[in-house]
Amino acid sequence: MYPESRLEDALERLQQRRSVKAMDLGDPGPNDSELETLLTTGIRVPDHGKLGPWRLIKFSGDARQAFGNVLAERFHSLNPEAREHSIAAERDRFMRAPVVVAVIARITPGIKIPEWEQQMSVGAVCQNILVTANLMGFAAQWLTEWYAFDEHIDAALGLTTHERVAGFIYIGSAGERPAERVRPELADVLTAWQVP
Ligand SMILES: Cc1cc2nc3c(=O)[nH]c(=O)nc-3n(C[C@H](O)[C@H](O)[C@H](O)COP(=O)(O)O)c2cc1C
Repeated sequence: MYPESRLEDALERLQQRRSVKAMDLGDPGPNDSELETLLTTGIRVPDHGKLGPWRLIKFSGDARQAFGNVLAERFHSLNPEAREHSIAAERDRFMRAPVVVAVIARITPGIKIPEWEQQMSVGAVCQNILVTANLMGFAAQWLTEWYAFDEHIDAALGLTTHERVAGFIYIGSAGERPAERVRPELADVLTAWQVP
């Protein structure tokens, strides 16, 4: 039989899962071995054609501040009037969590597998990382913010043509469970198909 059983604890955890705001994340983050487990599990997603239309870039330790300097410089050049505290906030963006993972979409155009399906597989990686982080006891948030949509930052990330940021997954630990978020009612989004 597959799967072998119902995992009651995991089910309950997923029924209560919430993202935790990046600013509320702190230590501990996953260590190298935990991160390897987290990301190996995270990329285990449906992927039509076995294309692997994604790649990951991790930021931990000093790399977070170094990337923050890139963000601050770009932010300042886009907003020459910006106050020092706003620029400092950009510099510290990646310091909000012990680990940040950029999920990069690597889309191959013009092949049998539609681009839309490749993009959805990338979204599945992002969500799978959130879910795995949670099951491993870490809190996380999927953010894009302005720097996911900036060509200068894309270049600093080393992105090539047909690559774009799907999200930055901030991963760490949270002191408190976040308040529940309003959810769509299943009854409002579910219909049973009937013969027209
Ligand atoms: C692709 C994507 C990008 C997002 N970018 C942002 C963002 O830039 N800023 C933000 O506050 N929330 C952003 N969110 C929303 C949060 O990650 C998250 O969905 C929200 O906090 C509630 O999550 P939960 O339902 O997992 O608790 C984004 C969500 C997705 C799916």
